[in-house]
Amino acid sequence: MNIQTWLTEKDPKKLAQLWQMADTTRQTNVGDAVHLRGLIEISNNCIRKCAYCGISALNTPPRYRMNTAEIMNCVTKAVEFGYGTVVMQAGEDYALTTKWIAGLVKRIKTETPLAVTLSLGERPLQELEDWREAGADRYLLRFETSDPKLYQQIHPGSNDRITTLKQLKQLDYEIGSGVMIGIPGQTYVSLANDIQLFAELDLDMVGVGPYIPHPETPLGSGQIKPEIAINEQVPNNEEMTYKVVALTRLACHTANIPSTTALATINKMNGRELGLTRGANVVMPNLTPPKYREQYTIYPDKACINETAEQCQNCLRGRIAAIGREIGTGAGNRKTSSL
Ligand code: 5AD
Ligand code: FES
Repeated sequence: MNIQTWLTEKDPKKLAQLWQMADTTRQTNVGDAVHLRGLIEISNNCIRKCAYCGISALNTPPRYRMNTAEIMNCVTKAVEFGYGTVVMQAGEDYALTTKWIAGLVKRIKTETPLAVTLSLGERPLQELEDWREAGADRYLLRFETSDPKLYQQIHPGSNDRITTLKQLKQLDYEIGSGVMIGIPGQTYVSLANDIQLFAELDLDMVGVGPYIPHPETPLGSGQIKPEIAINEQVPNNEEMTYKVVALTRLACHTANIPSTTALATINKMNGRELGLTRGANVVMPNLTPPKYREQYTIYPDKACINETAEQCQNCLRGRIAAIGREIGTGAGNRKTSSL
């Protein structure tokens, strides 16, 4: 299978074959269960200046940080709703101290059966070690692109996330990464390399979604211009997203692959379902209280912005049932071998 050829394939009949292969591979390796990971966006403060992101330090959205009681309230809902995991995500916010996060992780691990995933940015290795020690099971850090030049351009001053992912694996975390699809300056060659790298890193989780321009960012406003020919540029559309989801499943048979919120944002009607039938096996219902949700604006018009935790759980349960799949039980760890 040549990844690059698939990325440029236009024939609907051929693409139907790709969706079918991805769905069969998903079924054979991870089964029909769709795992639910409750997402809690615990702070939108961030010190980074990522050129695509609406909550970067370059912007001035209203900022919030959830307190322990608010977070534990969401955790309780996750248990009530039968979710297997909570994902605590934030900008890179050092007011979320090592100790405080460690305490929170310990508390969740002691008081609930939930798996705990952290997604708190490029934090120093010592902190990642301490949080693992406290009981955190998984860490999410998208490398966004494997093209070093493009990475530098859109992440001024950032660390090498690929090295960090290898360190996280050494610490025995389940590791999750991924990329945005259609970043200005992203070529078909580099996107094919990204998918190859998912397999090389032996990722436990791979999240991919379309790049959605945020007008108040250097990349979204056109201030940063791509340095590639137009015919090399990957589009940030729905079909390309399904191709990447499907090819990721074919490259990483047993990985947990979410049908992402960004995909649901560009096709609110059935983007989630199409992701799930073209390779994905995970969804991440949002648990963040609505008043904070609308401030976690990494990109505009985000799906679920006006919904409550209850509405997201009902919505996703309905969508999963409608496509004949079942809700996963337990933590939903990566399966190490075929079913
Ligand atoms: N469009 C799509 N996805 C985005 N992310 C951040 N900004 C955008 C955007 N403008 C994604 C990044 C990040 C994840 C949390 O959200 O891939 O890793
Ligand atoms: Fe939030 Fe559908 S998942 S409204």
